[in-house]
Amino acid sequence: MAIFIDSSDLDEIRKYHRMGILRGVTTNPTILVKDGIKKGLVGVEKRAKEIAGLIDPLPLSMEVTTNDPDEMIREAKIMASWAKNINVKITIHGPEGEIENLEVIHELEKRHDIRVNVTAMMNAQQCFLAALAGATYVSIFGGRVNDMGYNCLDQVRCLRKLLDAHGLGAKIIVGSTREALNVIEWLDAGAHIVTVTPSFISKILVHPYSKETVRQFLADAAIVKRSKDA
Ligand code: E4P
Repeated sequence: MAIFIDSSDLDEIRKYHRMGILRGVTTNPTILVKDGIKKGLVGVEKRAKEIAGLIDPLPLSMEVTTNDPDEMIREAKIMASWAKNINVKITIHGPEGEIENLEVIHELEKRHDIRVNVTAMMNAQQCFLAALAGATYVSIFGGRVNDMGYNCLDQVRCLRKLLDAHGLGAKIIVGSTREALNVIEWLDAGAHIVTVTPSFISKILVHPYSKETVRQFLADAAIVKRSKDA
């Protein structure tokens, strides 16, 4: 595990999957809107199945569209039935701080054998509780944490230490990347996975000095070729 792509754009996912650098895909309702997914759950199902098929056996996270506990379980069961590599995203609590989500997470993992990615978390203590409830993945939004004036690195370090010390198997996903440095620094701090938007990959891959170096190699290669022809 290392890099997941945060996207529902099939062409983008295909492009980076072909390069062999992806270990999974994450989505959320905001990403689905941005990528133009329509027709309600029918449209979501179609795209989810396309992505899941494309990346199989790598994992795909799909997020439920409700915060009603019974509905969350119903939707999670539907989404998980679309493909064996789909796991379901549940937010750590509701929009008004409703805490029943933890029970939903526990029930999905333990009773229904559905992998859960607990999302929208901003600190280690939320992630620790989600891990105790049995979550397979715990997603902390590193960029949003930093946007609020805290350093996400401290949270990731502390969380990894706690998970390891208590024998909890949850994998830490850090999302919401903002700066090129984020991927390496968050992985180095103990994240199992960093999820990035497609455009972020060029940002961390392409280096001006590498470009200059390649330009020089190509120019000199042309000289060598010309001298061979002459
Ligand atoms: C992670 O799973 C989230 O989908 C995502 O990284 C959130 O990023 P944002 O804060 O840039 O919206």
